[in-house]
Amino acid sequence: MRATRHVTWQQRFAAWAIATTGIFLVAAYQAASPSAEPRFAQTATAQAAPRPADVESFRKTIEPIFMRDRGGTMAGYAACVMCHTWQTSLRFDLETPATDAGWSAEQSQMNFQMITQLVNTKSPENSWLLLKPLEPKAGGLGHTGGTYWTSREDPEFQAVLNWIRSLPADRYVPAPQPAVDFEFFRSCVQNVFAKPREGHINCSNCHGAGLMGFAPLPRDGRTTWNEEEARAAFRVISRLIVAGNPEKSRFMLKPLHPDGGGSYAHNGVRRWQTRDDPEWQMLAAWVRGERKGSSCS
Ligand code: HEC
Ligand code: HEC
Repeated sequence: MRATRHVTWQQRFAAWAIATTGIFLVAAYQAASPSAEPRFAQTATAQAAPRPADVESFRKTIEPIFMRDRGGTMAGYAACVMCHTWQTSLRFDLETPATDAGWSAEQSQMNFQMITQLVNTKSPENSWLLLKPLEPKAGGLGHTGGTYWTSREDPEFQAVLNWIRSLPADRYVPAPQPAVDFEFFRSCVQNVFAKPREGHINCSNCHGAGLMGFAPLPRDGRTTWNEEEARAAFRVISRLIVAGNPEKSRFMLKPLHPDGGGSYAHNGVRRWQTRDDPEWQMLAAWVRGERKGSSCS
């Protein structure tokens, strides 16, 4: 019974995966300029068992938002749960619903534990969970999965915000994130985009503009990026990494071979076969905030 239902979700995901190539090409033209990033870490300090009433209100008010059918399979129209289960390697990683109606009580516990890493009870309006689906012009972070809330007045946004406010204020507060160094990005990380490996297509071919445009080519025939270009690329890539956590960073996982722990799908190249690749290690240290400055060796 469970197995059959599991397949149902996978089939839905398959439909999404097919649809994505189209969305991402469209997304590339939308070129939303990412706003300043409120930075905070994902590690919540929630060791103690959750209050049952909090899990119950999560089940009643928040899970239906994740489950809601929005009439499509494309970014901005698909149900959150279509993208946010096992396949993304993201922190926002819901259980595969036990039935079409939703999650079992036990699964909701797991979902709750996971979601409390994406909220900030000290500063509820800065919760990652709220800022990802929010329109960038309204202060959102930018979301490959699309814009779901065009303003903070959106009733769903308000419902999630009120729920976060209902949690104990000192309970789910993200640990501070390490700073990811711009100078190292400029001196060492951009080199990765400039030098495709043998037989590979350059990242810039597909990641030249838009939400995923972290590697536009230098303009005016220059061979290196100027300060302004580097800053713009850094803002984009900041969205695709989780500071302090290379294992949950899209940038570290998409070009990594699945057999080596990389993403299940990438419509581009697999630059690293395993995490042992010295370049992967260098970039991971940068994401952890350990590499700074202009020396790449
Ligand atoms: C079409 C697929 C898709 C849908 C539908 C979708 N997302 Fe996403 N979401 C993504 C992808 C891909 C990322 C990672 C890239 C990024 O951060 O933009 C992401 C990232 C996120 C993150 C950050 C996760 C982390 O681990 O840092 C949150 C929070 C989020 N989405 C919330 C939502 C919510 C809430 C909904 C429903 C209202 C939703 N998403 C719908 C694809 C989707
Ligand atoms: C042939 C085109 C192509 C090339 C080359 C390519 N990619 Fe991609 N990449 C894509 C497409 C299409 C997607 C979106 C669909 C997917 O996730 O597979 C994507 C997604 C990504 C994402 C996730 C973006 C998001 O918003 O969640 C990252 C990170 C990424 N690629 C990194 C790279 C890096 C680094 C390189 C170079 C080493 C690279 N890609 C080369 C086509 C490409």
